[in-house]
Amino acid sequence: MSELDEQAIEILQKNDRGGYTVPTAKLYPYQWNWDSAFVALGFLTFDRDRAWREVELLLEGQWQNGMVPSIIFRRNDPDYFPGPAVWRTQTNSEVIPPIASTGISQPPVLASIVLKMVSSGNDQDLQRADTVFADILKWHRWYQTERLSPVSGCVATVHPWETGRDNCPDWELGLDTMQVDPELEPYVRQDIKHADPEQRPSKLQYDKYISMVKYGREQGWNQKTITTDGPFVMADPGIHFILLRANRDLLEIARLLGKAEAIIEIQRFIDHAVEATEYFWNDKLGAFTARNILNGEYSNGVSSASALCFYADVGSELQRDRTLQNLTRISKQVQYMLPSWDPDGTNFDPQRYWCGPVWPQMNYILSSGLEEQGHYALAARVRQDLSRLIEKSGFRECFNPLNGDGCIGTDFSWTAAIWLAWASPSTQEMAA
Ligand code: GLC
Repeated sequence: MSELDEQAIEILQKNDRGGYTVPTAKLYPYQWNWDSAFVALGFLTFDRDRAWREVELLLEGQWQNGMVPSIIFRRNDPDYFPGPAVWRTQTNSEVIPPIASTGISQPPVLASIVLKMVSSGNDQDLQRADTVFADILKWHRWYQTERLSPVSGCVATVHPWETGRDNCPDWELGLDTMQVDPELEPYVRQDIKHADPEQRPSKLQYDKYISMVKYGREQGWNQKTITTDGPFVMADPGIHFILLRANRDLLEIARLLGKAEAIIEIQRFIDHAVEATEYFWNDKLGAFTARNILNGEYSNGVSSASALCFYADVGSELQRDRTLQNLTRISKQVQYMLPSWDPDGTNFDPQRYWCGPVWPQMNYILSSGLEEQGHYALAARVRQDLSRLIEKSGFRECFNPLNGDGCIGTDFSWTAAIWLAWASPSTQEMAA
């Protein structure tokens, strides 16, 4: 075990709050949805029971309608904004989350992580998967019943934070077609106290983010209304591909558990998503990109989510070829793959949040997809680049793709987890 492996374990232990892990102290002091899923993979390398606890505690926050929220506020931390008093999800009698939480979800990578936990384990792991299976299926069903946009035929997202790629230039399309709520109460941001404002979203963006929360609150977090009438309704290739892959993986778990009815239901989700993929195809750019469902407009850049078509195993040969051409073009412009936003796109910024930096969890899933589809050289580059970044700059939240500097949070849980599970040379040797 290397020194970095030891450091990664220490970070996970330090960020452990008793069965769930915070992404990093101070900046993100709660349990985040997709962070926890990736974190479980890290724990899996040295404490399987603890890995399952992470998954189980995440599902404790699941709403009755099936949604698993993006953040679970187990205890109030005044140092974080917007906290439970702003989301106010527990005041509505129809939904009442079991634990205070946000009113939106996050990329549903959990089923894919659970399949990894099962396939690397034994009967006990399969039994534990059985206890969470119904909840995960319920979450996936929620996308079909509450979040399907009748206009686009695909799952819609109603807040940039739900995509996990919070301030990617993709979302400018949707932000441009909405107004800041004129009655927005004054608020104090906490994120810029803990991180460099230059690397965080702007004031106007933030006003719009909080206006969307106000709107959701006023609708009593009725997800159908928010999806059909809300101020921000977009299609995200990230959520689409991750959910499609998660359904394929959930189907595999259903087979292992012999769940006949679920198999039929999940297969329907998959067929539907494969068909809906066309909505994302941006022929001008030669990639699957985000779209504003409210006016059909396409995004003007390739993002790291565009590359997830391989992970979802979807798209025609031509669409995949053109996506690969884009990735090859981008690979020549950066030292480290894959930037979250196209260096040729407007608003590329190598240090600002999702406008350029490389994100560890994205490298992991997109490289896995490329490898599964036989694009070995590119897959290896994406993996090696993440190892080099962590070796150079430590366990940061994300990294500058041009010079490898670490950005935003430090001692970051998913970076440590992805290191242990996938990027560390010791793990790569074991897998070889
Ligand atoms: C940021 C990221 C989001 C992540 C969260 C906690 O908001 O954009 O993807 O889940 O931090 O790490």
